[in-house]
Amino acid sequence: MTVLSIIYVVLFYVAMIILFGGIANKIMLYTRVPAPLKIAVTPAPLTTGGVVYRLFYEVVFFNSLFRASKWTWIFGWVFHLSLLLAFFRHLRYVISPDFFLWPLVNLEVVQSFGKYAGFAMVFGLVGLFGRRVFVDRVKYISSASDYLMLILIGMIAVSGLMMSFVSHTDIIQLKAFILGLFFLDWQNLPNDTILLVHLTLVLTLMLIFPVSKLLHAPGLFFAPTRNQVDNPREKRHLSPWGAEIEAKDGRNA
Ligand code: HEM
Repeated sequence: MTVLSIIYVVLFYVAMIILFGGIANKIMLYTRVPAPLKIAVTPAPLTTGGVVYRLFYEVVFFNSLFRASKWTWIFGWVFHLSLLLAFFRHLRYVISPDFFLWPLVNLEVVQSFGKYAGFAMVFGLVGLFGRRVFVDRVKYISSASDYLMLILIGMIAVSGLMMSFVSHTDIIQLKAFILGLFFLDWQNLPNDTILLVHLTLVLTLMLIFPVSKLLHAPGLFFAPTRNQVDNPREKRHLSPWGAEIEAKDGRNA
């Protein structure tokens, strides 16, 4: 194996441990954060089924954002949709044709349309960046990391597009490298500059993801304003730790 390949094997393992360990750690933290008050944003659902529907609508259509700002919604939604398409397109590097997800990865919309989704991704990112530069009240609350995150993801998309349209890499060898990581059968990585740039940027993204605001993805499910049932009159709201204290004090829960 080449020295370069060994370095990337090590980097990928470190990045994967930090990414998955970091996300799991943050999710456990979220589950422990007290939510002592009933603060569902109304109109809110009256049943648990309604909450599931609300969260589904929020995740798929970015409902709250749609109501708040149409421009941000368009750029944000286009970016995330193209990210999803790119994700499905990338799955072919990690699964073989006999895996049950293969028909999904092989769909025309994923492979052909997905190839151009990279342009939509850049469009969305440029819009989101422009919003932070040109909208005064957003600029005021933007920090350096907000800009850098958009630039980082933008550079991943551009380097990916360059591989798709300008200078191809050896996909077969790349797939062997990625599968080798999972099956502990390490293989060489193609020595192409654009691929190395793409992967180095992806590694950077993996490392900063658990400590960045990009964690809003799992965080959404823990937002009490969105995940609570609107039933304060029917049922007294009490957080688990509040119930414990009441039980200890001998008061009625
Ligand atoms: C280990 C992870 C990754 C690997 C091995 C990888 C590899 C590749 C390769 C080989 C291509 C060229 C595809 C072709 O020639 O048909 C590509 C394209 C692309 N990549 Fe990645 N990539 C990874 C992660 C990411 C991530 C996290 C993003 C987005 C944030 C991303 C965004 C893109 C885009 C937008 C394209 C161009 C459109 C396309 O061909 O799908 N990649 N990637």
